[in-house]
Amino acid sequence: ENHRPLHGRHVLVTAGPTHEPIDPVRYIANRSSGKQGFAIAAAAAAAGAQVTLISGPVHLDTPPGVERYDVESAAEMLDAVESALPADVAIMVAAVADWRAADRADSKIKKDGSGQVAPLPLAVNPDILSSVAASPARPRLLIGFAAETEHVVSHAQAKRLRKGADWIVANDVSGDVMGGDSNTVHLVTAEGVEDWPAMPKDKVAAALVERIAAHCMKDDA
Ligand code: C5P
Repeated sequence: ENHRPLHGRHVLVTAGPTHEPIDPVRYIANRSSGKQGFAIAAAAAAAGAQVTLISGPVHLDTPPGVERYDVESAAEMLDAVESALPADVAIMVAAVADWRAADRADSKIKKDGSGQVAPLPLAVNPDILSSVAASPARPRLLIGFAAETEHVVSHAQAKRLRKGADWIVANDVSGDVMGGDSNTVHLVTAEGVEDWPAMPKDKVAAALVERIAAHCMKDDA
């Protein structure tokens, strides 16, 4: 079917930031509105896919036809992703916090008034993309995102190999992409690099979903 090129496919999308609790009132987070991930989930659903969207804390409505699970932390996101597998395609758009507080305090941590550097030991979070890449349930097509402020393409190429993704969508976030509606991306695959012109996030999503559909069709043949 031409209008529903992803009909019969399960597409998994992660989106938004994660919040890593420090104590009941504080958290560590990344800057992410979730707009690009939600736009991709919407575009995949519009293309006929069964879409599971695992979202960190965002202020966005669930796109039509999308099954959404809300999570807070990276650990919860990893659990939700593992529960959502298998999938034909996974697109990891979430800006996952790289660290969490090593010990979560059960009550509010008090300032000690000394003016000294605060002791906040951090633990490294699991890398969800790498973990899905290594999973026996690895999707046939695994796509990561890479927000970079410099050496955008070379960092993305290294990330593709290091994390075991098939494609990396690299975006230059040195401008005002965060929370904005427009994005300039480079599609990094095993075949090479495509520089896409700046476009609204929903156009990036539509173009990416078109590429995914073409890839799935080729894979079937
Ligand atoms: O290393 P970096 O955070 O730049 O990698 C970005 C890519 O890896 C994105 O696709 C992001 O969703 C994914 N990621 C992840 N789990 C992490 C960190 C990043 O899935 N803990």
